[in-house]
Amino acid sequence: MVNELTVIVLAAGAGTRMKSKTPKVLHEVAGRSMVGHVLGVVRALEPSRVVAVVGHQRELVAAHVAELDPDAVVAVQEEQLGTGHAVRVAVEALGEVSGTVLVAYADTPLLRVESLRDLLAGHTAAGHAATILSGVVDDPFGYGRIVRGGDGGVSAIVEENDGDEATRRITEINSGIIAFDAAFLADVLPRLTDDNAKREFYLTDTVGLARRDGLTVGAVVVADSSEIEGANDREQLAAIGRELNRRVLSRWMLDGVTIVDPATTWIDADAELAADVTLLPGVQLLGATKVDQDAVIGPDTTLKDCEIGAGARVVRSHANLAAVGPGAEVGPFSYLRPGTVLGKGGKIGGFVETKNASIGDGAKVPHLSYVGDAEIGEGTNIGAGTIFANYDGVNKHRTVVGRHAKTGSNNTFVAPVTIGDGASTGGGTVVRGEVPAGALAVSAGPLRIIEGWALAKRPGTPQAAAAETAGERSSSHAATSAGDPSVGESSPGATQS
Ligand code: UD1
Ligand code: CA
Repeated sequence: MVNELTVIVLAAGAGTRMKSKTPKVLHEVAGRSMVGHVLGVVRALEPSRVVAVVGHQRELVAAHVAELDPDAVVAVQEEQLGTGHAVRVAVEALGEVSGTVLVAYADTPLLRVESLRDLLAGHTAAGHAATILSGVVDDPFGYGRIVRGGDGGVSAIVEENDGDEATRRITEINSGIIAFDAAFLADVLPRLTDDNAKREFYLTDTVGLARRDGLTVGAVVVADSSEIEGANDREQLAAIGRELNRRVLSRWMLDGVTIVDPATTWIDADAELAADVTLLPGVQLLGATKVDQDAVIGPDTTLKDCEIGAGARVVRSHANLAAVGPGAEVGPFSYLRPGTVLGKGGKIGGFVETKNASIGDGAKVPHLSYVGDAEIGEGTNIGAGTIFANYDGVNKHRTVVGRHAKTGSNNTFVAPVTIGDGASTGGGTVVRGEVPAGALAVSAGPLRIIEGWALAKRPGTPQAAAAETAGERSSSHAATSAGDPSVGESSPGATQS
Protein backbone atom coordinates (compact mmCIF):
# COMPACT_ATOMS: atom_id res chain seq x y z
CA MET A 1 0.00 0.00 0.00
CA VAL A 2 1.16 3.54 -0.73
CA ASN A 3 2.18 5.79 2.10
CA GLU A 4 -0.89 7.51 3.58
CA LEU A 5 -1.12 11.16 2.51
CA THR A 6 -2.78 14.08 4.26
CA VAL A 7 -2.81 17.53 2.66
CA ILE A 8 -3.09 20.78 4.62
CA VAL A 9 -4.00 23.88 2.61
CA LEU A 10 -3.35 27.18 4.39
CA ALA A 11 -6.00 29.77 3.61
CA ALA A 12 -6.33 31.80 6.80
CA GLY A 13 -4.28 34.87 5.89
CA ALA A 14 -5.78 38.31 5.45
CA GLY A 15 -4.32 39.03 2.02
CA THR A 16 -4.12 42.71 2.96
CA ARG A 17 -2.30 43.71 -0.22
CA MET A 18 -5.26 42.71 -2.37
CA LYS A 19 -7.10 45.69 -0.82
CA SER A 20 -10.34 43.82 -1.29
CA LYS A 21 -13.52 43.01 0.55
CA THR A 22 -13.22 39.55 -1.02
CA PRO A 23 -10.81 37.17 0.75
CA LYS A 24 -7.61 36.81 -1.27
CA VAL A 25 -7.95 33.08 -1.93
CA LEU A 26 -11.43 33.58 -3.42
CA HIS A 27 -10.13 35.89 -6.13
CA GLU A 28 -10.39 34.13 -9.47
CA VAL A 29 -7.99 33.28 -12.25
CA ALA A 30 -8.99 31.26 -15.32
CA GLY A 31 -12.53 31.04 -13.98
CA ARG A 32 -11.69 29.39 -10.68
CA SER A 33 -10.82 30.77 -7.26
CA MET A 34 -7.16 30.52 -6.30
CA VAL A 35 -8.03 28.05 -3.54
CA GLY A 36 -10.11 26.12 -6.09
CA HIS A 37 -7.05 25.62 -8.29
CA VAL A 38 -4.99 24.40 -5.34
CA LEU A 39 -7.73 22.05 -4.09
CA GLY A 40 -8.01 20.63 -7.63
CA VAL A 41 -4.27 20.00 -7.85
CA VAL A 42 -3.96 18.37 -4.42
CA ARG A 43 -7.06 16.19 -5.00
CA ALA A 44 -5.29 14.76 -8.05
CA LEU A 45 -2.78 13.24 -5.60
CA GLU A 46 -5.68 11.18 -4.17
CA PRO A 47 -4.86 11.99 -0.54
CA SER A 48 -6.83 10.24 2.20
CA ARG A 49 -7.61 13.60 3.83
CA VAL A 50 -7.55 17.28 2.86
CA VAL A 51 -7.73 20.00 5.51
CA ALA A 52 -8.23 23.67 4.71
CA VAL A 53 -7.20 26.13 7.42
CA VAL A 54 -9.44 29.20 7.38
CA GLY A 55 -9.33 32.33 9.51
CA HIS A 56 -9.75 35.68 7.89
CA GLN A 57 -13.36 35.92 6.60
CA ARG A 58 -13.71 32.30 7.52
CA GLU A 59 -17.44 31.95 6.74
CA LEU A 60 -16.91 32.90 3.10
CA VAL A 61 -13.79 30.79 2.64
CA ALA A 62 -15.22 27.78 4.52
CA ALA A 63 -18.46 27.87 2.50
CA HIS A 64 -16.50 28.03 -0.76
CA VAL A 65 -14.24 25.12 0.24
CA ALA A 66 -17.27 23.05 1.29
CA GLU A 67 -18.91 23.70 -2.07
CA LEU A 68 -15.83 22.75 -4.11
CA ASP A 69 -14.65 19.87 -1.99
CA PRO A 70 -17.33 18.58 0.41
CA ASP A 71 -14.95 15.95 1.77
CA ALA A 72 -12.36 18.50 2.89
CA VAL A 73 -12.06 19.14 6.63
CA VAL A 74 -12.22 22.82 7.52
CA ALA A 75 -10.10 23.89 10.50
CA VAL A 76 -10.51 27.35 11.99
CA GLN A 77 -7.45 29.34 13.01
CA GLU A 78 -8.96 32.02 15.24
CA GLU A 79 -5.88 34.24 15.20
CA GLN A 80 -3.25 34.20 12.47
CA LEU A 81 -0.20 33.53 14.60
CA GLY A 82 1.95 32.19 11.77
CA THR A 83 2.30 29.28 9.34
CA GLY A 84 3.52 26.93 12.10
CA HIS A 85 0.48 27.77 14.20
CA ALA A 86 -1.84 27.26 11.22
CA VAL A 87 -0.46 23.76 10.60
CA ARG A 88 -0.79 22.97 14.29
CA VAL A 89 -4.47 23.95 14.18
CA ALA A 90 -4.94 21.62 11.18
CA VAL A 91 -3.20 18.68 12.85
CA GLU A 92 -5.26 19.21 16.01
CA ALA A 93 -8.45 19.18 13.91
CA LEU A 94 -7.43 15.84 12.41
CA GLY A 95 -6.67 14.24 15.77
CA GLU A 96 -4.04 11.89 14.47
CA VAL A 97 -1.81 11.86 11.42
CA SER A 98 0.32 9.15 9.87
CA GLY A 99 2.37 8.69 6.73
CA THR A 100 3.11 11.95 4.94
CA VAL A 101 1.61 15.39 5.53
CA LEU A 102 1.88 17.85 2.65
CA VAL A 103 1.47 21.54 3.44
CA ALA A 104 0.44 23.85 0.58
CA TYR A 105 -0.75 27.46 0.33
CA ALA A 106 -4.09 28.44 -1.15
CA ASP A 107 -2.68 31.32 -3.20
CA THR A 108 -0.44 29.44 -5.66
CA PRO A 109 -2.75 28.56 -8.57
CA LEU A 110 0.11 27.84 -10.99
CA LEU A 111 1.27 24.82 -9.03
CA ARG A 112 1.33 21.61 -11.09
CA VAL A 113 0.48 18.17 -9.78
CA GLU A 114 3.66 16.80 -11.44
CA SER A 115 5.79 19.00 -9.17
CA LEU A 116 3.97 17.75 -6.08
CA ARG A 117 4.46 14.16 -7.25
CA ASP A 118 8.22 14.80 -7.67
CA LEU A 119 8.36 16.32 -4.19
CA LEU A 120 6.53 13.39 -2.58
CA ALA A 121 8.60 10.81 -4.45
CA GLY A 122 11.85 12.52 -3.38
CA HIS A 123 10.63 12.81 0.18
CA THR A 124 9.62 9.17 0.50
CA ALA A 125 12.72 7.82 -1.23
CA ALA A 126 15.12 9.78 1.01
CA GLY A 127 13.21 9.16 4.25
CA HIS A 128 13.61 12.79 5.30
CA ALA A 129 11.80 14.34 8.26
CA ALA A 130 10.77 17.09 5.86
CA THR A 131 11.28 17.89 2.17
CA ILE A 132 10.78 21.38 0.81
CA LEU A 133 9.66 22.30 -2.66
CA SER A 134 12.19 25.03 -3.40
CA GLY A 135 12.76 27.31 -6.35
CA VAL A 136 15.67 29.29 -7.69
CA VAL A 137 14.53 32.83 -8.46
CA ASP A 138 16.10 36.06 -9.76
CA ASP A 139 14.68 38.16 -6.96
CA PRO A 140 14.44 36.23 -3.67
CA PHE A 141 13.29 39.27 -1.67
CA GLY A 142 10.59 38.45 0.88
CA TYR A 143 10.99 34.69 0.70
CA GLY A 144 12.51 32.31 3.23
CA ARG A 145 16.01 31.35 1.99
CA ILE A 146 17.13 27.73 1.83
CA VAL A 147 20.42 27.29 3.67
CA ARG A 148 22.15 24.09 2.56
CA GLY A 149 24.66 22.22 4.73
CA GLY A 150 27.90 20.60 3.60
CA ASP A 151 26.01 17.36 2.87
CA GLY A 152 23.71 19.15 0.39
CA GLY A 153 20.79 18.72 2.77
CA VAL A 154 18.85 21.70 4.10
CA SER A 155 20.12 23.00 7.41
CA ALA A 156 17.73 25.91 7.87
CA ILE A 157 15.18 28.20 6.28
CA VAL A 158 15.89 31.82 7.16
CA GLU A 159 13.10 34.36 6.75
CA GLU A 160 13.78 37.72 5.07
CA ASN A 161 13.67 39.72 8.30
CA ASP A 162 15.82 37.27 10.23
CA GLY A 163 18.75 36.81 7.85
CA ASP A 164 22.17 38.44 7.54
CA GLU A 165 23.65 39.87 4.31
CA ALA A 166 25.08 36.55 3.14
CA THR A 167 21.81 34.69 3.73
CA ARG A 168 19.85 37.32 1.84
CA ARG A 169 22.04 36.74 -1.23
CA ILE A 170 20.83 33.10 -1.45
CA THR A 171 18.52 32.71 -4.45
CA GLU A 172 17.07 29.31 -3.55
CA ILE A 173 13.81 30.02 -1.76
CA ASN A 174 11.14 28.16 0.19
CA SER A 175 7.93 27.86 -1.83
CA GLY A 176 6.08 27.13 1.40
CA ILE A 177 5.10 23.73 0.06
CA ILE A 178 6.65 21.17 2.35
CA ALA A 179 6.21 17.40 2.75
CA PHE A 180 6.56 16.18 6.33
CA ASP A 181 6.90 12.84 7.98
CA ALA A 182 3.66 12.87 10.01
CA ALA A 183 5.21 11.60 13.26
CA PHE A 184 7.96 14.22 13.12
CA LEU A 185 5.44 16.98 12.39
CA ALA A 186 3.13 16.05 15.27
CA ASP A 187 6.14 16.00 17.58
CA VAL A 188 7.73 19.26 16.42
CA LEU A 189 4.71 21.60 16.18
CA PRO A 190 4.31 22.15 19.95
CA ARG A 191 8.03 22.96 20.13
CA LEU A 192 7.83 25.98 17.79
CA THR A 193 8.29 29.42 19.35
CA ASP A 194 7.56 32.95 18.13
CA ASP A 195 11.04 34.17 18.94
CA ASN A 196 11.66 36.03 15.65
CA ALA A 197 11.32 39.37 13.87
CA LYS A 198 7.59 38.94 13.10
CA ARG A 199 6.68 37.29 16.43
CA GLU A 200 5.01 34.45 14.55
CA PHE A 201 5.18 30.70 14.88
CA TYR A 202 7.14 29.85 11.73
CA LEU A 203 6.55 26.48 10.09
CA THR A 204 10.02 26.91 8.63
CA ASP A 205 11.61 26.61 12.08
CA THR A 206 10.79 22.89 11.90
CA VAL A 207 13.88 22.50 9.71
CA GLY A 208 16.36 23.59 12.37
CA LEU A 209 14.55 21.46 14.97
CA ALA A 210 14.76 18.39 12.73
CA ARG A 211 18.51 18.87 12.37
CA ARG A 212 18.86 19.23 16.12
CA ASP A 213 17.00 15.91 16.48
CA GLY A 214 19.55 14.34 14.13
CA LEU A 215 17.01 14.02 11.31
CA THR A 216 17.55 15.04 7.69
CA VAL A 217 15.71 17.66 5.62
CA GLY A 218 15.81 17.80 1.83
CA ALA A 219 14.70 20.17 -0.90
CA VAL A 220 13.42 19.36 -4.37
CA VAL A 221 13.94 22.26 -6.77
CA VAL A 222 10.96 22.98 -8.95
CA ALA A 223 11.91 23.17 -12.64
CA ASP A 224 9.84 26.27 -13.39
CA SER A 225 9.87 28.68 -10.47
CA SER A 226 6.81 30.55 -11.80
CA GLU A 227 4.77 27.58 -10.51
CA ILE A 228 5.32 28.48 -6.89
CA GLU A 229 4.55 32.18 -7.23
CA GLY A 230 1.72 33.35 -5.04
CA ALA A 231 -0.59 36.24 -5.78
CA ASN A 232 -0.33 38.84 -3.06
CA ASP A 233 -1.72 41.85 -4.96
CA ARG A 234 -3.84 42.45 -8.04
CA GLU A 235 -0.83 42.97 -10.26
CA GLN A 236 0.50 39.52 -9.39
CA LEU A 237 -3.01 38.12 -9.77
CA ALA A 238 -3.16 39.41 -13.34
CA ALA A 239 0.30 38.05 -14.14
CA ILE A 240 -0.68 34.64 -12.79
CA GLY A 241 -3.94 34.78 -14.75
CA ARG A 242 -2.03 35.47 -17.95
CA GLU A 243 0.36 32.58 -17.31
CA LEU A 244 -2.49 30.17 -16.56
CA ASN A 245 -4.23 31.31 -19.75
CA ARG A 246 -1.03 30.78 -21.74
CA ARG A 247 -0.88 27.21 -20.47
CA VAL A 248 -4.55 26.54 -21.22
CA LEU A 249 -4.24 27.94 -24.77
CA SER A 250 -1.09 25.98 -25.39
CA ARG A 251 -2.82 22.75 -24.38
CA TRP A 252 -5.79 23.37 -26.70
CA MET A 253 -3.57 24.35 -29.62
CA LEU A 254 -1.59 21.13 -29.19
CA ASP A 255 -4.94 19.31 -29.15
CA GLY A 256 -5.87 20.75 -32.56
CA VAL A 257 -7.67 24.02 -31.85
CA THR A 258 -6.78 27.01 -34.07
CA ILE A 259 -6.29 30.14 -31.98
CA VAL A 260 -5.62 33.01 -34.34
CA ASP A 261 -4.55 35.50 -31.67
CA PRO A 262 -3.48 33.97 -28.34
CA ALA A 263 -2.81 37.46 -26.95
CA THR A 264 -6.50 38.36 -27.01
CA THR A 265 -8.01 34.93 -26.36
CA TRP A 266 -8.99 33.84 -22.85
CA ILE A 267 -10.09 30.32 -22.00
CA ASP A 268 -11.05 29.26 -18.49
CA ALA A 269 -9.58 26.14 -16.97
CA ASP A 270 -12.93 24.30 -17.09
CA ALA A 271 -13.79 24.99 -20.76
CA GLU A 272 -13.64 22.14 -23.28
CA LEU A 273 -12.89 22.35 -26.98
CA ALA A 274 -12.84 19.79 -29.76
CA ALA A 275 -10.25 19.53 -32.52
CA ASP A 276 -10.63 21.87 -35.50
CA VAL A 277 -12.45 24.52 -33.56
CA THR A 278 -11.32 27.99 -34.72
CA LEU A 279 -11.15 30.90 -32.30
CA LEU A 280 -10.82 34.33 -33.93
CA PRO A 281 -9.28 37.29 -32.06
CA GLY A 282 -10.96 38.64 -28.95
CA VAL A 283 -12.72 35.47 -27.75
CA GLN A 284 -13.42 34.59 -24.12
CA LEU A 285 -14.62 31.06 -23.34
CA LEU A 286 -15.63 31.17 -19.71
CA GLY A 287 -16.83 28.72 -17.10
CA ALA A 288 -17.77 25.26 -18.33
CA THR A 289 -18.20 26.31 -21.97
CA LYS A 290 -17.97 23.45 -24.48
CA VAL A 291 -17.28 23.96 -28.17
CA ASP A 292 -17.65 21.07 -30.60
CA GLN A 293 -15.54 20.41 -33.69
CA ASP A 294 -15.34 22.80 -36.66
CA ALA A 295 -17.21 25.54 -34.83
CA VAL A 296 -15.88 29.04 -35.48
CA ILE A 297 -16.13 31.52 -32.64
CA GLY A 298 -15.44 35.24 -32.86
CA PRO A 299 -14.11 37.69 -33.40
CA ASP A 300 -14.95 39.52 -30.15
CA THR A 301 -17.23 36.99 -28.51
CA THR A 302 -17.80 36.05 -24.88
CA LEU A 303 -19.38 32.70 -24.04
CA LYS A 304 -20.00 31.70 -20.43
CA ASP A 305 -21.22 28.19 -19.56
CA CYS A 306 -22.40 27.64 -23.14
CA GLU A 307 -22.54 24.60 -25.41
CA ILE A 308 -21.73 25.21 -29.05
CA GLY A 309 -22.47 22.45 -31.56
CA ALA A 310 -20.26 21.16 -34.33
CA GLY A 311 -19.76 23.56 -37.22
CA ALA A 312 -21.72 26.36 -35.56
CA ARG A 313 -20.70 29.96 -36.13
CA VAL A 314 -20.87 32.63 -33.39
CA VAL A 315 -19.84 36.13 -34.47
CA ARG A 316 -19.33 39.17 -32.18
CA SER A 317 -21.79 38.02 -29.56
CA HIS A 318 -22.30 37.59 -25.83
CA ALA A 319 -23.91 34.46 -24.42
CA ASN A 320 -24.50 33.01 -20.99
CA LEU A 321 -25.92 29.53 -20.23
CA ALA A 322 -27.01 29.05 -23.83
CA ALA A 323 -26.86 26.06 -26.17
CA VAL A 324 -26.27 26.52 -29.90
CA GLY A 325 -26.99 23.52 -32.12
CA PRO A 326 -24.74 22.05 -34.79
CA GLY A 327 -24.39 24.23 -37.88
CA ALA A 328 -26.38 27.06 -36.30
CA GLU A 329 -25.50 30.73 -36.75
CA VAL A 330 -25.39 33.43 -34.11
CA GLY A 331 -24.59 37.11 -34.54
CA PRO A 332 -23.17 39.50 -35.24
CA PHE A 333 -24.16 41.42 -32.11
CA SER A 334 -26.47 38.86 -30.53
CA TYR A 335 -27.15 38.59 -26.81
CA LEU A 336 -28.08 35.08 -25.65
CA ARG A 337 -29.23 34.98 -22.06
CA PRO A 338 -29.74 31.93 -19.82
CA GLY A 339 -32.05 29.24 -21.15
CA THR A 340 -31.53 29.97 -24.82
CA VAL A 341 -31.50 26.80 -26.91
CA LEU A 342 -30.96 27.18 -30.65
CA GLY A 343 -31.62 24.08 -32.76
CA LYS A 344 -29.55 22.50 -35.48
CA GLY A 345 -29.04 24.86 -38.43
CA GLY A 346 -31.04 27.61 -36.72
CA LYS A 347 -30.23 31.29 -36.67
CA ILE A 348 -30.18 34.08 -34.09
CA GLY A 349 -29.16 37.09 -36.15
CA GLY A 350 -27.94 40.62 -35.63
CA PHE A 351 -29.16 42.64 -32.66
CA VAL A 352 -31.34 39.85 -31.31
CA GLU A 353 -31.71 39.24 -27.58
CA THR A 354 -33.02 35.90 -26.35
CA LYS A 355 -33.82 34.56 -22.91
CA ASN A 356 -35.36 31.27 -21.80
CA ALA A 357 -36.18 30.60 -25.43
CA SER A 358 -36.08 27.40 -27.36
CA ILE A 359 -35.70 27.97 -31.10
CA GLY A 360 -36.20 24.82 -33.17
CA ASP A 361 -34.08 23.16 -35.83
CA GLY A 362 -33.72 25.40 -38.85
CA ALA A 363 -35.82 28.14 -37.21
CA LYS A 364 -34.63 31.71 -37.65
CA VAL A 365 -34.86 34.96 -35.75
CA PRO A 366 -32.71 36.93 -38.14
CA HIS A 367 -32.97 40.59 -37.13
CA LEU A 368 -33.49 43.11 -34.32
CA SER A 369 -35.76 41.14 -32.02
CA TYR A 370 -36.37 40.21 -28.40
CA VAL A 371 -37.37 36.61 -27.76
CA GLY A 372 -38.15 35.89 -24.11
CA ASP A 373 -39.96 32.91 -22.54
CA ALA A 374 -40.67 31.38 -25.91
CA GLU A 375 -40.75 28.20 -27.88
CA ILE A 376 -40.39 28.42 -31.64
CA GLY A 377 -40.95 25.32 -33.76
CA GLU A 378 -38.65 23.97 -36.46
CA GLY A 379 -38.37 25.82 -39.74
CA THR A 380 -40.25 28.89 -38.48
CA ASN A 381 -39.12 32.39 -39.48
CA ILE A 382 -39.68 35.32 -37.15
CA GLY A 383 -39.92 38.69 -38.91
CA ALA A 384 -37.51 41.54 -38.28
CA GLY A 385 -38.09 43.66 -35.23
CA THR A 386 -40.35 41.25 -33.36
CA ILE A 387 -40.86 41.62 -29.65
CA PHE A 388 -41.99 38.71 -27.54
CA ALA A 389 -43.64 40.82 -24.82
CA ASN A 390 -43.35 38.30 -22.02
CA TYR A 391 -43.76 40.62 -19.06
CA ASP A 392 -46.97 42.39 -18.11
CA GLY A 393 -45.30 44.36 -15.36
CA VAL A 394 -46.13 41.73 -12.76
CA ASN A 395 -45.84 38.26 -14.27
CA LYS A 396 -43.93 36.57 -17.10
CA HIS A 397 -45.86 34.62 -19.75
CA ARG A 398 -44.89 32.21 -22.52
CA THR A 399 -45.25 32.42 -26.26
CA VAL A 400 -45.41 29.26 -28.34
CA VAL A 401 -44.95 29.49 -32.10
CA GLY A 402 -45.49 26.27 -34.08
CA ARG A 403 -43.53 24.68 -36.92
CA HIS A 404 -42.94 26.39 -40.26
CA ALA A 405 -44.80 29.53 -39.26
CA LYS A 406 -43.89 32.86 -40.93
CA THR A 407 -44.45 35.93 -38.84
CA GLY A 408 -44.31 39.47 -40.25
CA SER A 409 -41.98 42.31 -39.40
CA ASN A 410 -42.47 44.56 -36.41
CA ASN A 411 -44.80 42.19 -34.60
CA THR A 412 -45.51 42.18 -30.90
CA PHE A 413 -46.57 38.95 -29.24
CA VAL A 414 -48.25 39.93 -26.01
CA ALA A 415 -47.83 36.70 -24.06
CA PRO A 416 -49.46 34.36 -23.38
CA VAL A 417 -49.62 33.77 -27.13
CA THR A 418 -49.96 30.65 -29.24
CA ILE A 419 -49.31 30.72 -32.97
CA GLY A 420 -50.16 27.44 -34.71
CA ASP A 421 -48.10 25.38 -37.15
CA GLY A 422 -47.85 26.97 -40.59
CA ALA A 423 -49.58 30.17 -39.46
CA SER A 424 -48.65 33.67 -40.68
CA THR A 425 -48.97 37.16 -39.30
CA GLY A 426 -48.98 40.47 -41.13
CA GLY A 427 -46.46 43.26 -40.63
CA GLY A 428 -46.99 45.31 -37.51
CA THR A 429 -49.37 42.76 -36.04
CA VAL A 430 -49.94 42.72 -32.30
CA VAL A 431 -50.93 39.20 -31.31
CA ARG A 432 -52.78 38.44 -28.09
CA GLY A 433 -54.09 34.94 -27.42
CA GLU A 434 -54.17 32.38 -30.19
CA VAL A 435 -53.61 32.24 -33.95
CA PRO A 436 -54.85 28.86 -35.27
CA ALA A 437 -52.64 26.61 -37.43
CA GLY A 438 -52.48 27.75 -41.05
CA ALA A 439 -54.28 31.08 -40.36
CA LEU A 440 -53.15 34.60 -41.24
CA ALA A 441 -53.45 37.11 -38.42
CA VAL A 442 -53.55 40.80 -39.25
CA SER A 443 -54.22 43.37 -36.59
CA ALA A 444 -55.37 46.81 -37.58
CA GLY A 445 -57.74 49.31 -36.16
CA PRO A 446 -57.92 52.49 -34.23
CA LEU A 447 -55.66 53.11 -31.31
CA ARG A 448 -57.68 52.64 -28.16
CA ILE A 449 -56.94 54.53 -24.96
CA ILE A 450 -58.35 53.06 -21.78
CA GLU A 451 -58.05 55.78 -19.19
CA GLY A 452 -57.09 54.86 -15.63
CA TRP A 453 -56.09 51.32 -16.57
CA ALA A 454 -52.95 51.23 -14.40
CA LEU A 455 -54.82 52.39 -11.29
CA ALA A 456 -57.68 49.96 -11.87
CA LYS A 457 -55.69 46.90 -12.87
CA ARG A 458 -52.35 47.33 -11.14
CA PRO A 459 -53.27 48.93 -7.83
CA GLY A 460 -50.51 49.18 -5.29
CA THR A 461 -47.68 48.86 -7.79
CA PRO A 462 -45.05 51.55 -8.54
CA GLN A 463 -46.67 51.78 -11.99
CA ALA A 464 -50.04 52.71 -10.47
CA ALA A 465 -48.38 55.18 -8.11
CA ALA A 466 -46.57 56.86 -11.00
CA ALA A 467 -49.81 57.09 -12.97
CA GLU A 468 -51.58 58.59 -9.98
CA THR A 469 -48.88 61.21 -9.39
CA ALA A 470 -48.90 62.14 -13.07
CA GLY A 471 -52.70 62.37 -12.98
CA GLU A 472 -52.65 64.75 -10.02
CA ARG A 473 -49.95 66.88 -11.57
CA SER A 474 -51.68 67.34 -14.93
CA SER A 475 -55.38 67.04 -14.09
CA SER A 476 -56.09 70.50 -15.50
CA HIS A 477 -54.08 69.75 -18.66
CA ALA A 478 -55.80 66.35 -19.16
CA ALA A 479 -59.02 67.82 -20.50
CA THR A 480 -57.27 69.46 -23.46
CA SER A 481 -54.99 66.49 -24.27
CA ALA A 482 -58.00 64.16 -24.58
CA GLY A 483 -58.83 65.97 -27.77
CA ASP A 484 -55.27 65.77 -29.10
CA PRO A 485 -55.47 64.91 -32.82
CA SER A 486 -52.30 62.72 -32.56
CA VAL A 487 -54.26 60.22 -30.45
CA GLY A 488 -56.20 59.03 -33.42
CA GLU A 489 -56.37 55.95 -35.62
CA SER A 490 -53.28 53.93 -36.29
CA SER A 491 -52.61 52.72 -39.80
CA PRO A 492 -53.85 49.20 -40.49
CA GLY A 493 -51.28 46.44 -40.26
CA ALA A 494 -49.56 45.76 -43.55
CA THR A 495 -49.48 42.17 -44.65
CA GLN A 496 -46.23 40.25 -44.61
CA SER A 497 -43.90 40.69 -47.53
C1 UD1 B 1 6.11 32.01 3.96
C2 UD1 B 1 7.31 31.23 4.45
C3 UD1 B 1 8.54 31.57 3.59
C4 UD1 B 1 8.23 31.27 2.14
C5 UD1 B 1 6.96 32.00 1.70
C6 UD1 B 1 6.55 31.54 0.32
C7 UD1 B 1 7.05 30.90 6.83
C8 UD1 B 1 7.40 31.38 8.18
N1 UD1 B 1 7.57 31.57 5.82
O1 UD1 B 1 6.40 33.39 4.19
O2 UD1 B 1 9.65 30.82 3.99
O3 UD1 B 1 9.31 31.65 1.33
O4 UD1 B 1 5.87 31.71 2.60
O5 UD1 B 1 5.47 32.29 -0.13
O6 UD1 B 1 6.34 29.91 6.70
N2 UD1 B 1 -1.18 31.59 6.82
C9 UD1 B 1 -2.17 31.08 7.62
N3 UD1 B 1 -2.15 31.37 8.95
C10 UD1 B 1 -1.18 32.14 9.50
C11 UD1 B 1 -0.18 32.66 8.67
C12 UD1 B 1 -0.20 32.36 7.33
O7 UD1 B 1 -3.07 30.38 7.15
O8 UD1 B 1 -1.25 32.35 10.71
C13 UD1 B 1 -1.21 31.29 5.40
C14 UD1 B 1 -1.42 32.52 4.56
O9 UD1 B 1 -2.79 32.69 4.26
C15 UD1 B 1 -0.62 32.21 3.32
C16 UD1 B 1 0.47 31.29 3.80
O10 UD1 B 1 0.05 30.78 5.02
O11 UD1 B 1 -1.37 31.52 2.35
C17 UD1 B 1 1.82 31.98 3.90
O12 UD1 B 1 1.76 32.96 4.90
P1 UD1 B 1 2.54 34.34 4.77
O13 UD1 B 1 2.31 35.09 6.00
O14 UD1 B 1 2.22 34.97 3.49
O15 UD1 B 1 4.05 33.82 4.76
P2 UD1 B 1 5.29 34.55 4.14
O16 UD1 B 1 5.74 35.60 5.04
O17 UD1 B 1 5.04 34.89 2.74
CA1 CA C 1 3.25 35.29 1.36
